Amino acid sequence: MKFFIDSANIDEIREAASLGILDGVTTNPSLVAKEGKNFRQLLDEILELVNGPISAEVVSTDRDGILVEARELAAIHPNIVVKVPLIREGLKAVRQLTDEGIKTNVTLCFSPTQALLAAKAGATYISPFIGRLDDISIDGMELIQQIVTIYQNYNFGTQVLAASIRHPLHVVQAAMMGADVATIPFKIIDMMFMHPLTESGLQKFLDDWKKNEAKLV
Ligand code: E4P
Repeated sequence: MKFFIDSANIDEIREAASLGILDGVTTNPSLVAKEGKNFRQLLDEILELVNGPISAEVVSTDRDGILVEARELAAIHPNIVVKVPLIREGLKAVRQLTDEGIKTNVTLCFSPTQALLAAKAGATYISPFIGRLDDISIDGMELIQQIVTIYQNYNFGTQVLAASIRHPLHVVQAAMMGADVATIPFKIIDMMFMHPLTESGLQKFLDDWKKNEAKLV
């Protein structure tokens, strides 16, 4: 399973990269807007920090506009993956981008039919939003399971990227279901490390070692 960080914050991305567990980054217009920086400059900084797929989202909503923005983004660096919304015009653009060899991440997926359409259009990644479904009392994890099953049934090459992750259990469940990627906010990556027995166990080891006045080397 690949881990991406769902963030446009340079400090968070740097810290996550230093952990040695990071495979890529996803951004979206809201995350970018929060940083108050020039988008191109932000992308350059992210590309310096992480050598893996970096999703950057288009903001046009018509095929031709999406294509112009997508080609510009893809030309910045081979690691750029163009994030395209799951709308009719978006998928028309995805088909063309796929044919041109440009990688795509189809975002705002909330149903298995949408995921099927994205795979048919040749998307590199599909991003089902788990948390936003949970927010409206629909089981987001069930959608991941449905998409994984459908893609496996037909050997689609599109990778399932579990997005809108709200807590560590989402990551565990996505991993159990065989999602290819989880894009995880920094706060959740941090929470994944935590276990009270690790903390208390380490404290006891260190205290006992001190009492013994032993030296390691
Ligand atoms: C995915 O790539 C999106 O950026 C993200 O996961 C959305 O998450 P949110 O629902 O927490 O905004």
